[in-house]
Amino acid sequence: MTLSGKHILLVISGGIAAYKSLDLIRRLKERGAKVTPVMTAGAQEFVTPLAVGALSATHVFTELFSRQDEQDVGHIRLARDCDLVLVAPATANLMAKMTHGLADDLASTVLLATDKPILIAPAMNPKMWSASATQRNIATLKNDGIHFIGPMAGEMAEKGEGGTGRMAEPLQIVEAVAVLFDTAPKPLAGKTAIVTSGPTHEPIDPVRYIANRSSGRQGHAIAAALARLGAKVTLVSGPVTIPDPTGVTTVHVERAEEMRDAVIGRLPADIAVFVAAVADWRVATASDQKIKKQPGDAPPALKLTENPDILKTVGHHEKRPTLVIGFAAETQDVENNGRAKLERKGADMIIANDVSPETGVMGGLRNQVKLISKDGVEAWPDMGKDEVADRLAAMIAEKLA
Ligand code: C5P
Repeated sequence: MTLSGKHILLVISGGIAAYKSLDLIRRLKERGAKVTPVMTAGAQEFVTPLAVGALSATHVFTELFSRQDEQDVGHIRLARDCDLVLVAPATANLMAKMTHGLADDLASTVLLATDKPILIAPAMNPKMWSASATQRNIATLKNDGIHFIGPMAGEMAEKGEGGTGRMAEPLQIVEAVAVLFDTAPKPLAGKTAIVTSGPTHEPIDPVRYIANRSSGRQGHAIAAALARLGAKVTLVSGPVTIPDPTGVTTVHVERAEEMRDAVIGRLPADIAVFVAAVADWRVATASDQKIKKQPGDAPPALKLTENPDILKTVGHHEKRPTLVIGFAAETQDVENNGRAKLERKGADMIIANDVSPETGVMGGLRNQVKLISKDGVEAWPDMGKDEVADRLAAMIAEKLA
């Protein structure tokens, strides 16, 4: 979605994640937004107003009592002359000030004075995030109608520390901004969906696993597209390197059995789309210890056993969703194999795609699909995975209408 014509007041507060705000400005501008930055004193310890202003190509506001900026009560004008106030990063301190209505610098004053929506991207040490004081403040801010994006789990700037507290990535923040401005109709409002995505990793021993080339791009795009149409979406994702989509609850799993448990545990649902490239087999008994190479020994034989078929299980489940859609990654006889799968798996539709290496589909950005249902076969032209996702979500909405 374009942000053209939107004016975003970007409040940058003082955390190490402020370095990501520079990229955030670029990403917002890429989408067409105008960005006016406000920096706290703390923020200026991490990035300079010069760098921020060079990227925003607008004046950077830093002072509450500025003779130049306040001649026309600038802080009130700043607070009102925008479509959204975005705080990224939002420190624990700034959140505490917002909770209590403190206004002792330009950033906190603007946040108190604004009558526009506020979206905050918290960033702090995990202990600060989980502290009871911060958790009380979050509850109050949410109750006040403040929108949140993140924080995310992962590694922190502090060496060796992990947990929840990382600021969302700039693209995730831009997505959350777009969602707030999105006034499109929501034909899937009130519907729930489960989407699987990515590969699975089936352990051989603690360091080795069996996997495939799935990137998760198609599944993640479908989850996001369903959410944009108003569905409440749970994405069950295998190990991928792409970020969690916004507006979706993402559950991370590794193995097929974990994926099955996560999916079954979330039934009932109205819609289920199985995009994950689930490994058909796993190693019957994965070793607890790393398998050692011994001089003169023959290579170890891996005894495989079949993984549960998640689509088939759900397609025949007593809590079967109204609409069950599977994918079929094939390298030959795509249509006939898709049709056979429809029957066997109890699906309403199989979306067959040719994943022969020359198509570049597996791991790539584009896809060319055939939709196989009892009504026949519909072939879509080659298009981006995002577009496949949007079209599919629209079709799902039509079917459930
Ligand atoms: O049989 P095949 O693996 O080609 O079927 C592909 C479809 O079945 C996909 O929708 C995939 O997500 C799903 N599947 C599954 N569990 C498996 C294998 C495949 O849900 N173990």
